Amino acid sequence: MTPPHRQPARHRTAVLATVPVAVAALLGAAAPAGPTTGAPGAGDPYFPLSGNGGYDVRHYDLTLRYDTTSRRLDATAVLTARATQRLTRFDLDLSGLKVTAVTVGRTEAGFRRDGQELVVTPRHALRAGQEFRVTVAYHGTPKPVTDPDGAADGWIPTDDGAFVAGEPQGAMTWFPTNGHPRDKASYDITITVPKGRTAVAGGVLLSERTAHGRTTFHWRETQPMAAYLATATIGKFQVERYTTRDGIQVYNAVDAREARAAAPVLKKLPSVLEWESKLFGPYPFRAAGSIVDHAPDVGYALETQTRPLYDSAPGLGTLVHENAHQWFGDSVSLTAWKDIWLNEGFATYAEWLYREQHGGRSAQQAFDALYARPASDGLWAYPPGDPGSGAHIFGTPVYQRGAMALHELRRAVGDRDFFRILRAWATAHRAGHATTAQFVRLAEEKSGKSLKELLHTWLYAPGKPNST
Ligand code: ARG
Ligand code: ZN
Repeated sequence: MTPPHRQPARHRTAVLATVPVAVAALLGAAAPAGPTTGAPGAGDPYFPLSGNGGYDVRHYDLTLRYDTTSRRLDATAVLTARATQRLTRFDLDLSGLKVTAVTVGRTEAGFRRDGQELVVTPRHALRAGQEFRVTVAYHGTPKPVTDPDGAADGWIPTDDGAFVAGEPQGAMTWFPTNGHPRDKASYDITITVPKGRTAVAGGVLLSERTAHGRTTFHWRETQPMAAYLATATIGKFQVERYTTRDGIQVYNAVDAREARAAAPVLKKLPSVLEWESKLFGPYPFRAAGSIVDHAPDVGYALETQTRPLYDSAPGLGTLVHENAHQWFGDSVSLTAWKDIWLNEGFATYAEWLYREQHGGRSAQQAFDALYARPASDGLWAYPPGDPGSGAHIFGTPVYQRGAMALHELRRAVGDRDFFRILRAWATAHRAGHATTAQFVRLAEEKSGKSLKELLHTWLYAPGKPNST
């Protein structure tokens, strides 16, 4: 499930063709793929090897067994995909771990490892448009990757299990994936852990069975999900389940060490979801909840689809933020990491709106406090609409100046049109993808105003913008 390609994988070839021959030779390992081999990346300049070309994944069926003592993972991944071109060979993303067998359909396929690429050569070439199934058997001790911003990302072991987050590129540390948000898919995740531990993924819990000292949890997310939003977080958790008035199935898993601090905030989840649904339109998923782990080294929370993941008891602002991402980021997804403000600016602005409507400071006050920062402040170091590299995608300008851009839009079009725009955005691209250019167009359409200049200034101009 990939949106139409605006920047074909061939782009890479064009760039290489213009660089001097010596450099091209140095880059030999990344030489342009032939027309019948799938590209090693999805064409995202911030993370060139994330995702792959030549096919779309429809469904991931992951069967995992994790030993929390030895930290060993034994797994099988079955991917149902469709070739978008003739393929004599294609890549999956997988970092670390040992692959023991790959089959395409019922036939064993050739495979080799090349950095984070698992290169698969099916016995028979795949036709353009052909549906196929890849099965990968693998095991090992999963390790997180270090992101350009220095954060650990992926399968992060904890003292009682693992904190499993994947933004932007950590999914490949625990399953073979087409690891770019351009390709969303549904998931079945089945996890076996020692009895007494709980394994939590996104979506609905289909079954939980204990036998021979182990418990197996089977989770299913039917709505399209980007790989970075998948989790299989394991720990000693207290579990709470209920259904909201809107029929959303809530599953909260909380580490006992965080339970006291988390309780008053988690209690607000139904009212937060209701408030967000009023503002942004119906909640996009069937399931919801929270995973509150005790993972002091992680330092961030993640909007894992249907069930945000927290490294410790969240504050109310963080709960509002991660759940706002269910609309902005999870349901409406990025086609390129450069557009990350569409996730973080929106989720941050949701926090501002929540405070404003619940007796706290107004969004205008939040804006003013930030705007008072001098031109030399880090807030103005780079523009949110193109932070420039993977190292900056979670920086203050993306979150705060991204939210400020939305506030400027609100002031320009007025509350009525502003909230119509937010809702229309979530509705028009529900379960899909969208770009910044599409947002600007939608805002202009809904308001009848010319907004390009204003939004371009706030999103793309270097330095501190003028405010009216
Ligand atoms: N999207 C997360 C949030 O809600 C942040 C993820 C940070 N990840 C990282 N690798 N630094 O803010
Ligand atoms: Zn966020």
